Amino acid sequence: MNAKSKKRPFVTANFALTWDGRISTRRGTPADFSSKTDKRRLVEIRARCDAVLVSAKTAAADNMSMGLPDAALRAARSARGQRAYPLRVLLTNSGRIDPALRLFTKTFSPVVIFSTTRMPARTRTALTAQADLWLHESASVNLPAMLAILRADYGVRRLVCEGGAQIFRALLAAGLIDELHVTLCPRVFGGEKAPTLTGLPGAFLPASIPLTLKKMEVIGGECFLRYRVAARLPH
Ligand SMILES: NC(=O)c1ccc[n+]([C@@H]2O[C@H](COP(=O)([O-])OP(=O)(O)OC[C@H]3O[C@@H](n4cnc5c(N)ncnc54)[C@H](OP(=O)(O)O)[C@@H]3O)[C@@H](O)[C@H]2O)c1
Repeated sequence: MNAKSKKRPFVTANFALTWDGRISTRRGTPADFSSKTDKRRLVEIRARCDAVLVSAKTAAADNMSMGLPDAALRAARSARGQRAYPLRVLLTNSGRIDPALRLFTKTFSPVVIFSTTRMPARTRTALTAQADLWLHESASVNLPAMLAILRADYGVRRLVCEGGAQIFRALLAAGLIDELHVTLCPRVFGGEKAPTLTGLPGAFLPASIPLTLKKMEVIGGECFLRYRVAARLPH
């Protein structure tokens, strides 16, 4: 990558939320509380993007392949000049990734992993043949650098972050989220240990983040919302 390149992809995020703002249960079981319509939306949003980003934790919890099951969506991408499948991007600070994860058994699109030099040597060796590894020497992945690499080296212009909450929060706090899709689902979970959109309740963000509603649709009891995130964090 040209180190001076600061261009980054447009970053959208997509989450299903309960009415009390939870993205999962306290046990982190697969987030399967939304409808088929929501799941269809998820792949449609994914299909418009050049890359899909999740944490290694969410990839494992949700047993994701991060693919596009619908051939029509893949054909539409090819017609637009995109690869049939988006690039798959994993994020982990510790580098603890199981090389036997389902997504590594699917080879329809490259996998790119951003982590740190804390990644255990055995994991590095196992993953080298299955993914591009970018290991930052800092304690945590440099998120602006990650996005700049995705843009410059992989041609990613539009990326969707599909979670979970901790990596969404980190991107949001760094001013790196441009758009947010939220599906409000008619469920209430409760529980202090079930993560919210920004994780378990904890410290405030450095500043509150204003959102501008761009679209709202109610289908079958769920509310589909699309927000633009303020271009700059207020000081
Ligand atoms: N409802 C939804 O739409 C939705 C969407 C996605 C996920 N989920 C659910 O959410 C749960 C997981 O969410 P979560 O908030 O607990 O975890 P998460 O954000 O998926 O992953 C957290 C992990 O990512 C790593 N990490 C955190 N910040 C990072 C950063 N800045 N850079 C790099 N790595 C970082 C850390 O682990 P390491 O460093 O050890 O890797 C951390 O433990 C799962 O139950 C999943 O099913 C729901």
